[in-house]
Amino acid sequence: MSARESNDKQRGLTRRLLGWYRREARDLPWRRTRDPYTVWAAEIILQQTRIEQGTPYFERFMAAFPTVEALAEADGDAVLKVWEGLGYYGRARRMQEAAKEIVHARHGRFPSSAEDWRRLPGVGRYTAGAIASIALGERTPVLDGNVKRVLARVFRIEACIDDAATTERLWAVASDLVPASHPGDFNQALMELGARVCTPQRPQCSDCPIRLLCEAYASGHQLELPVRRARGQTPHREMVAAVIRRNGRYLIAKRPSHGLLAGLWEFPSGEVRAGESHEAALRRIAQGDLGVDVCVGGLVAVAEQAYSHFHATLTAYRCACPAGRPAPVSHVASKWVRRSELERFAFPRINQKILAHLL
Ligand code: ADE
Repeated sequence: MSARESNDKQRGLTRRLLGWYRREARDLPWRRTRDPYTVWAAEIILQQTRIEQGTPYFERFMAAFPTVEALAEADGDAVLKVWEGLGYYGRARRMQEAAKEIVHARHGRFPSSAEDWRRLPGVGRYTAGAIASIALGERTPVLDGNVKRVLARVFRIEACIDDAATTERLWAVASDLVPASHPGDFNQALMELGARVCTPQRPQCSDCPIRLLCEAYASGHQLELPVRRARGQTPHREMVAAVIRRNGRYLIAKRPSHGLLAGLWEFPSGEVRAGESHEAALRRIAQGDLGVDVCVGGLVAVAEQAYSHFHATLTAYRCACPAGRPAPVSHVASKWVRRSELERFAFPRINQKILAHLL
């Protein structure tokens, strides 16, 4: 393609995408403002999350922490409680760290460019690009899973999009495309097209505003693109949880502030070893993690959960713990709480089934 043809194609893509976005954009709550805090919260919540699932979280988050000052001053457990069930809890923790930095070190002033946003905890290239283009009108690209798929199809990029080199190439393509006027609308249009029209399995090419510029559509390759790396089965972990009750109170423990499910409360739990019975695993975990001896009783619930690197089956049992003071080893705190108090704590999604049985 000559330089002139390539320029024409870029201009055509921009014009059509912006026109489509003006007609079709969903009226989402964070699109009614260019306030950086609002856009930032939306973009953090929407990472790894579909709009339909993320929107109620966004609304609860903004109601609870309407300003960066409110977030900076909030209790960390209150932030996790609003995030409960959304997953990737490190996002919430890092966003609060960044809010503290804005309020204290930057005297309440938000960063003024994508580059500056990236200096904050939890703000990567995607988030910085989204905030700067949408809230600041900076001509800077975004690249998420949806945008990668759209670009791989439009430009018929046949290299595997999970490879770092292809990702770099796609960032460069996105960067060339993003226009100086309305860069935020353009970026959101690409994401929205990927989510609603240029979908992975059944792209709706007949509804697509840029199909006549799409090289995959022209050659009939849209279903073969993008090329993904074959994903192996994620390993399975067999887990048990102890619902320990004494004098009408349940024992819960708080996970450390780093790592998987950081800062959440849970019923003491752990992985079952090869050849170990559930009962033996529960006694070992209660003793090793909390320093208490338990008598294992009946089944409470079985729950499944997929995480990024593994999936788990958690079987929960009622346990009695006649004596002994819990002394957490791998947790940072433990508490005996009444059933009516359980709802105040933020638990991982895999614990919700257990809670449903108790409540
Ligand atoms: N996904 C994440 N952020 C989005 C946005 N601002 N618009 C559309 N889809 C998105």
